[in-house]
This record gives sequence, C-alpha cells and structure tokens, in this order.
Amino acid sequence: MEITMWREILNPYELAVEELTCKFNHLIKEHHDKGYYSSIERVEGRVKKISSILDKCQKKDISINDVTTKIEDIAGIRIICQFVEDIERVVELLHKRSDIQVKQEKDYVKEPKESGYRSYHMIVWYTVETMDGPKRIMVEIQIRTVAMDFWASLEHKINYKFEGNAPQHIKEELIECSEMIANLDAKMLSLNEEILEIEAQQKAEKAARK
Ligand code: GTP
Ligand code: MG
Repeated sequence: MEITMWREILNPYELAVEELTCKFNHLIKEHHDKGYYSSIERVEGRVKKISSILDKCQKKDISINDVTTKIEDIAGIRIICQFVEDIERVVELLHKRSDIQVKQEKDYVKEPKESGYRSYHMIVWYTVETMDGPKRIMVEIQIRTVAMDFWASLEHKINYKFEGNAPQHIKEELIECSEMIANLDAKMLSLNEEILEIEAQQKAEKAARK
C-alpha cells in the first residue's frame, strides 16, 4: 500500500488519540483545580506503527483491506491509576461518557493472563470529524495501576529481547513479580484507606473543637 493511502487510513486514528489524551488530561486538571483526587494519574496514547499493523495482519491472517474493521488497537490509549480501586472508577466513568460507546471489555485485573499480565481492557467506539464528515473508529483503552504498568513494560521489554521465547525461569519469575505487584497494589490501597480515615477523623475533631 502506498504511503498516502496509509496516511489517509491512519489520520482519523491520530486525531482520536490526540483528542482522547487531551480530554483525559483535562479531566485530571479539572480535579486538581478543584482540589479533588483524580482517579486518573496520567494518560498515554499512541497510533500503531505501520510495520506493527503489517505484522499483525500477517500473524492473524488479516487482509490489508480489513485493517480498520479487524484490528482493534490501531488507536491505543493507556490510563494509569495510583490505586487498584481507581480502575473500577475509571471503567464506570468511561461507561458514562457520551462521546464513547463500549464495544468490548476484558478484565485482566480479576483474571490475569497466564503471563501474569494485569490490566483492564476496553475496545470502544469513538467518532472523529474528518474532512469527509464523521468517522466512527475503534480505540483500545488499557487501564492499569502504576505498578501494573511497571510490570507490563518490563515484561514487554524481556519478551521483545527473547522474541517471545524467554527462558522458563524468567517467565516464572515474572509471574512471581506479577503476584508481588498485586500484593503491593492491595497493600497500598489499604494503607491509603487508613490514611484517609485518619485524615477525616482529624478534620472532625478539629471541627468539634471550634
Ligand atoms: P492482540 O490484540 O492480538 O494483542 O490480542 P487480543 O485481542 O487477545 O488482545 P488483549 O486484550 O489480550 O491484549 C492486547 C494488548 O494488551 C497487547 O497489545 C498488549 O499491549 C497488552 N498485553 C496483553 N497481554 C500482555 C502480556 O502478557 N504482557 C504485556 N506486557 N502486555 C500484554
Ligand atoms: Mg486486541
């Protein structure tokens, strides 16, 4: 396929990634401006590289003509949260938004992958306005904690290095790390809840003294 064709195909996806990252960043800002806690810590976005699209077509036996209907992650958004509880809140928030429609969900937080991978995945429909009018496209949204993100990026790097065939002991250690990270996430959540409780108690005591 010619480069101009690819540009035409990828343009709406670039717009979607730009718009959605901008919208989520504003959501964070809105919370911070009001002094509220934001369930979203940060947001990242990317459009799949042409070479990766071609790789996926080959691996999954997808025709180049079907990329926009069969490849769901040409546009990818990653939402990073501080606490595991925030993931549910973000999922709820995404369901309520009028600018996206949820097509599919996979909860790898409740049911981690065999590799140890944890994250909440959503494929959503999102409409962008193009020169030729509105275009409805699929966007993959991954929601995970900072700890899950740390694990996923390391695991990805290792798999890339070993071309998917990492030695068994490394695979096993990664699964172990994933469990440690799940424990860490649970501990951080309960610690945070305790801190919030103490804070609320102190506030109430202060108000009572007035
Ligand atoms: P593909 O879309 O072909 O990847 O498979 P799928 O449709 O079954 O999607 P799935 O929701 O399982 O995973 C999609 C994306 O999640 C991948 O492209 C990765 O970014 C991420 N992912 C899934 N599994 C793993 C994993 O074991 N390790 C890491 N690091 N990332 C993963
Ligand atoms: Mg997929």
